[in-house]
Amino acid sequence: MKKLVSLVLVFALAFSLAACGKKDSATGGKSDKDAKIVVGVVQTNANESDWRTANTNSFNEAFKEAGFEMKMVFGEGDHAKQISQAQQLIQEEVDYLVVLGLQSAGWEDVAKAAKEAGIPFIMADRKLDLPEDLYTAMVCSDFEAEGRKAVDWLKKQNLDEYKIVVLGGDTGSSAQLGRSKAIEDGAKENGWEIVFNQNMKGWDETLAKQAVADLIASGTDFNVIYAENDNMARGACDAMSAAGITYGKNGKVKVIAFDANKWALEKVLAGEFNLDVECNPLHGPRIVDVIKKLEAGEHVEKNVYVDEEVFDCDTITREIVDARPY
Ligand code: AHR
Repeated sequence: MKKLVSLVLVFALAFSLAACGKKDSATGGKSDKDAKIVVGVVQTNANESDWRTANTNSFNEAFKEAGFEMKMVFGEGDHAKQISQAQQLIQEEVDYLVVLGLQSAGWEDVAKAAKEAGIPFIMADRKLDLPEDLYTAMVCSDFEAEGRKAVDWLKKQNLDEYKIVVLGGDTGSSAQLGRSKAIEDGAKENGWEIVFNQNMKGWDETLAKQAVADLIASGTDFNVIYAENDNMARGACDAMSAAGITYGKNGKVKVIAFDANKWALEKVLAGEFNLDVECNPLHGPRIVDVIKKLEAGEHVEKNVYVDEEVFDCDTITREIVDARPY
């Protein structure tokens, strides 16, 4: 009889331990309320852009303040590496998996594995190609909407001609796909000419500068730079400066940038950039809020697009720039 009782007790103990840490992948919520929440974050690259630096810092600061343990890994331009990193974090049984994908496609197997493991899958920054049953929450930018803001502004300029240079971001990221779609559709709708359209690997500023320098050297005429982030816009401006081509508020070439880093808004204020479309990187607090709600069993919006502004050299002020948080 004693053996039977001890056997039952052993099973009961084993069962209760097994239940610790398991959660519902749809709603989260650690059953062991005292343990530290461990969040795996699959980041794109460490030094991709000033935007990415602000984004990573935002996670570090917000997670530290929230008392979360963060395991951040960097894909460094390699989609396959990101996939294996995500699978490794699932094996380590993190409580939440946050993904910022280099590529928007190819995440189904990871999302399914996370679901099977009971780990909520959260997208940040860049929406991934996943059905809604394979992720818990999305907190991203609407990149095509960002691009449409730039197209609408460009149309209002009523230029005599439109010869547009498109400096795209990393090929296949939802940021590049959305922004490029907007300008390509806008050019078709308005009869504008895109004289150059290439994606710069890793959003690289030096590659962008060289591409514009080569265009100038080849004698290609253009009067609009559509650079899909601030760093590449700066590279383009450096190339134009070196060639004596005027740009910005009173120049020959209109310069459109994305991200709205503070240093770039200084350039908008100085009239070097004509327009900068905000892509807000401060996802740390937003993801903390999602996780806290899941932990508390509260409702979480499935799809949230971040509110973002546009900064125009004709209306920006010193006060606006000084008040910017990144
Ligand atoms: O996903 C956001 C994009 O990634 C930013 O526009 C770019 O600067 C970053 O590297």
